[in-house]
Amino acid sequence: MSSSARTRRPLAAGNWKMHKTLAEAQALAREIMAGCRDMAAEVALAPPFTALSIVAQEISGSAIRLAAQDVFWENQGAYTGAISPGMLLDVGCRYVIIGHSERRQYFGETDETVNKKIKAALGVGLAPIVCIGETLAQREAQETLNVITTQLAQGLAGLLPEEMSRLVLAYEPVWAIGTGRTATPEQAQEVHRFIRQWLTEQAGPEVAQGLRILYGGSVTPDNIRELSQAPDIDGALVGGASLKAASFLKIVAMGE
Ligand code: 13P
Repeated sequence: MSSSARTRRPLAAGNWKMHKTLAEAQALAREIMAGCRDMAAEVALAPPFTALSIVAQEISGSAIRLAAQDVFWENQGAYTGAISPGMLLDVGCRYVIIGHSERRQYFGETDETVNKKIKAALGVGLAPIVCIGETLAQREAQETLNVITTQLAQGLAGLLPEEMSRLVLAYEPVWAIGTGRTATPEQAQEVHRFIRQWLTEQAGPEVAQGLRILYGGSVTPDNIRELSQAPDIDGALVGGASLKAASFLKIVAMGE
């Protein structure tokens, strides 16, 4: 079942990945803030952990939301190098990206750890932005919808409908990330509609219709308009094009 994206407020989230010193992060946040008044879309910035605090200060009092790029599932303890959900809340995060394909590829993230992280984040009131998506080999083997189903079923296992309603999902085909090869609006819409149908079956139509499903993978000012017009695409998770204010602001405007 598809529906009008207009009933869901779009979200444009900038995933800065492993970029930006403190000074650079502060300058970028400032420039984005100056350029994004009265935007139709909600805006979130996900700087690296080291810059969360300075970006929080910069955007404080504005409608821009802070997001982290990852989280651990324990709330405190002897876990060298890890950051807890409570720490993210404390620094001012509203959102946390969980299960990004780069975490899966380089840091051993699995659907099981994604599931633990989602539950821990929800437990303190953070809104997880849960990333799913297939590799090129999986797409070419016609495995896309199976991969998505497994990632959803295992990643969201045990969540109540009310908990699911607090998630944002991000469909990020791995072959489109950082490659300049964007999914066509038709390719993305097919998967987004499938995800919403899965949610309808698991959590009911109300949750499924209310939940935002972002697209991520080589989103640019040039392709955002077409993508965001697809009925089940509710905004974007943006990597490279979020590192400069000018391009990110055009994406925030959804090409209007
Ligand atoms: P790019 O926009 O650089 O392709 O990255 C997408 C992404 O991984 C966002 O999380």
